[in-house]
Amino acid sequence: MNAIEFLEQTFNSCERQLGHHGKRNIRVLKEAFEQIEESRLSDRYGTGAVIEDFQAKMAALLGKEAAVFFPSGTMAQQIALRIWCDEKSLKKVAYHPLSHLEIHEQDGLKELHGIQTVLLADRDRVIELEDVKGMTENVACILLELPQREIGGQLPSFETLVGISDYCREKGIGLHLDGARLLEVLPYYGKTAAEVCALFDSVYLSFYKGIGGIAGAILAGDSEFLSKSKIWKRRYGGDLISLYPYILSADYYYELRAPKMGQYYEDAKELAASFNACHGVSTLPVVPVSNMFHVHIDLPKEKAASILAEVQRATGIGFTSYLKEIDESTCAFEMSVGDQYADLPKEDLRRAFRLLDDGMKA
Ligand SMILES: Cc1ncc(COP(=O)(O)O)c(C=O)c1O
Repeated sequence: MNAIEFLEQTFNSCERQLGHHGKRNIRVLKEAFEQIEESRLSDRYGTGAVIEDFQAKMAALLGKEAAVFFPSGTMAQQIALRIWCDEKSLKKVAYHPLSHLEIHEQDGLKELHGIQTVLLADRDRVIELEDVKGMTENVACILLELPQREIGGQLPSFETLVGISDYCREKGIGLHLDGARLLEVLPYYGKTAAEVCALFDSVYLSFYKGIGGIAGAILAGDSEFLSKSKIWKRRYGGDLISLYPYILSADYYYELRAPKMGQYYEDAKELAASFNACHGVSTLPVVPVSNMFHVHIDLPKEKAASILAEVQRATGIGFTSYLKEIDESTCAFEMSVGDQYADLPKEDLRRAFRLLDDGMKA
């Protein structure tokens, strides 16, 4: 077995992990449905109390007129951007070079809608007001991702968001929020979801990131925009006869974990400090601004894998199942703090980080 396989194997055998909420197994389904009355009726092609009530609840949370539940964020956001392009009669949108739409969706936006994209800012930093003001091309919409996942979950300041929002309104540019992890950034901003969303014309929120549900997304905005999104949802095959397994579990885990986002944020700062205290290890950002960050290791991928695998084997605490090569002498992995971190005894954590530090020094 090579070092990379050993890393994955030791991670999978660990009973406890540093990040996330626990294994995504049948327990996750059982827990969500345990307390629900058996007589509760399914939704049917987007109608029925189970979907309509949840959509109304999410619209209220996000401070928007309406909301529609989608099976995935990929579907919801491509549709949102298509609607803004139709509205402005311009098939061009702008977003970060490492946006989910640009690097993880097989060019759905371009292939399915013929929408062109303008990449704002450098890959390794967030979009600033100057990037938006300096844009030479006209676009129908700008998408901002909060936090910017591929660079460790960094955030622009709230003042920057206000500046970008004011500028877009003045110029008639739609502003869409990729808020896959919106709830996770609220403790840092010290704002409610509605206060952040008020700066945007449309918003997407995911139910399986920090919330830890099964899958699913909400798209929120004004009523006319959401009526159009329902037509596209049908065209995309997203209008499943029943979405209630996703909706009921989304609601259950939302209620369970939305109040814990402040705790995950505090835990992430503590955990990042433990990584930064180890030789040759650093986090991006150095001080997290949400529950997530990236861990960078100053070693080639195979060497880092054997050290981490040994820590996992010796302590039974899972750090990561994979490493991404940054260059020949550096690699990285992502960390998202959830329920599990707080349950780990501090003494076990100290031992694990001592072993990591020793391994790195050797
Ligand atoms: C920032 C961001 N946007 C959008 C998505 C798409 O979500 P989904 O997996 O529900 O399609 C993801 C998923 O990882 C994401 O991280």
